[in-house]
Amino acid sequence: MQPKVLISEEQIRYRNIEMGKEISRDFSQTKDLIVVGLLKGSFIFMSDLVREIKLPLKVDFMTVSSYGNDTVNKEVRIIKDLDESILDKDVLIVEDIIDSGYTLSKVIQILKSRNPRNLKICTLLDKPSRRKAQIDVDYCGFEVPDEFVVGYGLDYAQLYRNIPYVGITEIG
Ligand code: IMP
Ligand code: MG
Repeated sequence: MQPKVLISEEQIRYRNIEMGKEISRDFSQTKDLIVVGLLKGSFIFMSDLVREIKLPLKVDFMTVSSYGNDTVNKEVRIIKDLDESILDKDVLIVEDIIDSGYTLSKVIQILKSRNPRNLKICTLLDKPSRRKAQIDVDYCGFEVPDEFVVGYGLDYAQLYRNIPYVGITEIG
């Protein structure tokens, strides 16, 4: 069964244009912008978003996996690290969804330790009601309710990533 539409393709397209403008303005003085996508969930959002950022930029990707439940002990392991150094670079992290915030807060901690010049966070979706770790999100596409969402890169058991909108599964 097809997921029920929560955020349409058109809404996503429009919001990406707005965020791209904002990011382009905020980073206009930057010469070394690296946009870092967290795989796999961000791959579609990232590809659309970078085309709305009207600045020279590089892209890089990182894969992390988190084990354990929503506890402060949740372990985040790097499966695929960045290809390039971010020392003295301006970094924009692109994430699909922030839930508890534990995964992203660990990634921020890891990347900050590499001394980038500047580190900002962009997420397509945010579930603020579920937040456990405090994160300063610089750009957020949409806030979503506490439901399991799929599509536009987000999966349920690795499926549904190719659905062009964000939807809610019956099974999720
Ligand atoms: P956090 O550490 O609890 O913030 O987990 C965030 C990660 O969990 C995201 O990057 C997603 O990969 C995954 N996730 C959380 N909520 C959803 C959802 O509703 N749909 C799909 N993936 C989700
Ligand atoms: Mg993810």
